[in-house]
Amino acid sequence: MAWMRMFTLLLVYFIGLALAVDKNNFKSCDQSSFCRRLRGVKPDDSKYEIDLDSLQALDNAVEAKLINTEAGAEFKLSLTALAGNIFRLQVDEVNPLHPRYRPQYALNGEPQVAKLEVLDRNKESIVVQSGDNKAAIYFKPLKVEFFKNDVLVSVVNGRGLFTFEHYRTKAPENVGEGEVEQPKEDPGAWEENFKAHHDSKPRGPSAVGLDVTFPGALRAYGLPEHADRLALRTTAPGGLDPYRLYNLDVFEYEVDSTMAIYGAVPVVYAHSLKHTVGVFWHNAAETWVDINNSKDGNVMSSLVNLVSGTKTENSVEAHFMSESGIIDLFVLMGPKPKDAVKQYALLTGVAPLPQYFTLAYHQCRWNYVDEDDVTTVVESFDSNDLPVDVMWLDIEYTDGKKYFTWDPLKFRHPDVMINNLTATGRKLVVIIDPHIKRESGYFLHEDALANDYYVKNKDGSVYEGASSYLDFYDPKVVDYYKGLYSTDKFKGTSNDVFIWGEERQEPSVFNGPEVTMPKDCLHYGGWEHRDVHNE
Ligand SMILES: *[C@@H]1O[C@H](CO)[C@@H](O)[C@H](O)[C@H]1NC(C)=O
Ligand SMILES: *[C@@H]1O[C@H](CO)[C@@H](O)[C@H](O)[C@H]1NC(C)=O
Repeated sequence: MAWMRMFTLLLVYFIGLALAVDKNNFKSCDQSSFCRRLRGVKPDDSKYEIDLDSLQALDNAVEAKLINTEAGAEFKLSLTALAGNIFRLQVDEVNPLHPRYRPQYALNGEPQVAKLEVLDRNKESIVVQSGDNKAAIYFKPLKVEFFKNDVLVSVVNGRGLFTFEHYRTKAPENVGEGEVEQPKEDPGAWEENFKAHHDSKPRGPSAVGLDVTFPGALRAYGLPEHADRLALRTTAPGGLDPYRLYNLDVFEYEVDSTMAIYGAVPVVYAHSLKHTVGVFWHNAAETWVDINNSKDGNVMSSLVNLVSGTKTENSVEAHFMSESGIIDLFVLMGPKPKDAVKQYALLTGVAPLPQYFTLAYHQCRWNYVDEDDVTTVVESFDSNDLPVDVMWLDIEYTDGKKYFTWDPLKFRHPDVMINNLTATGRKLVVIIDPHIKRESGYFLHEDALANDYYVKNKDGSVYEGASSYLDFYDPKVVDYYKGLYSTDKFKGTSNDVFIWGEERQEPSVFNGPEVTMPKDCLHYGGWEHRDVHNE
């Protein structure tokens, strides 16, 4: 019967919807202007050169002017030796048209520097040493080699993909008679559309990128968070999309995919039989990373090796591409996996020890409908002799999705409910999301409007997704928001109530581009959302 078939079809359709994300709602590299631009950089033709006269060797660093000889733009380059067997390579613009963003929160304080000695300096290169680590900087074109115990373990710009798009004003489109026509720019360089969303890009193109090669490496790992296998796979135009790092709320994400999901940790560890080395790409903007592993599908070169009897060494290459910010690369010199991971932790800190109770059994559902429901669930655990230590409440405990409040009908006695739990040594966890319901009379929304706490549109008005969003880049917002997490502000709670901080890394905006905030939104300090999204 037709209606039954239709019903079945609908059912299949809805089950399908529920089981897989629609990939088309998220960008591929081809649909992202800066990814296209940086992926299109031709290898082995680098235009970046160090100005020899500007080179200075200091106690802990080498500094020099770097020049894009094609665009005539000037940059400041530094290579610093850090404590714990780490090098740091930084490149920023000299006198940029707009300030370039440096992440503020990823590092666990300013890293400690280490002593650097110059071993050799000539017209082509400078070689420096720190402990048993060495670095050789080549000037024309720029290339940096890193050695552990005199073994070459990593090369920056070995393939010549280094790119730093300096801020500039848009060239007029009409070319007058006799004038030289400029090379065609990528159509999305100055503004870009995706689905129904427009990115106005008032500051224009500003991407940065470079390639890092790991000679001798068999495999590379890292770049969380992706629902993919552990060892990074080879990506290439026409093949697998680059690993994308852009914090997104991708409900029911696909597996075996390099598409972006919730978190972004731009660190890669490369292993050879003898050595592990890591790189941490310290950038908070959207980032894509191409991986090229010589072990993957390189049938031709294996054949050549077989026929010629020669053996080319394995290697892995990572090509980092970010939409804005500066180049700030930490090279974690290993030599063992645990050393490289320790070096990363030295830079970024370690996770705090969890409280003892967090290791116990927790019970959570979206949603427990009211306080009786909570009681019944706990009693059922008890009567079935199953242990449960912590109950969790999702969003419906609130008064109409207003955080720091309780539903006045369904959760009428939060204090009694909480006492019921804690009397038996249990605890309660309640969710708090950082988006704020725009409802007049809601204290948090009123405070945010009155004190200018929200993230702005590019014209300075308050940004409205389905909600508005506190701007945590503003120190006074952080102070205010911290103050809400107290038992006298969040009435009904006690010291046995803990917070499910659903910060989710990304701002989740159901009606925004790719379910997040538009990139031309503005944060405190004038930073675009583009600059800080992954932070
Ligand atoms: C991958 O690396 C090989 C050398 O190992 C090179 O020939 C090839 O062009 C690279 N592929 C891409 C897409 O860069
Ligand atoms: C607290 O526990 C008592 C005894 O089990 C129960 O009758 C009561 O409904 C509970 N109150 C709340 C608010 O959960």
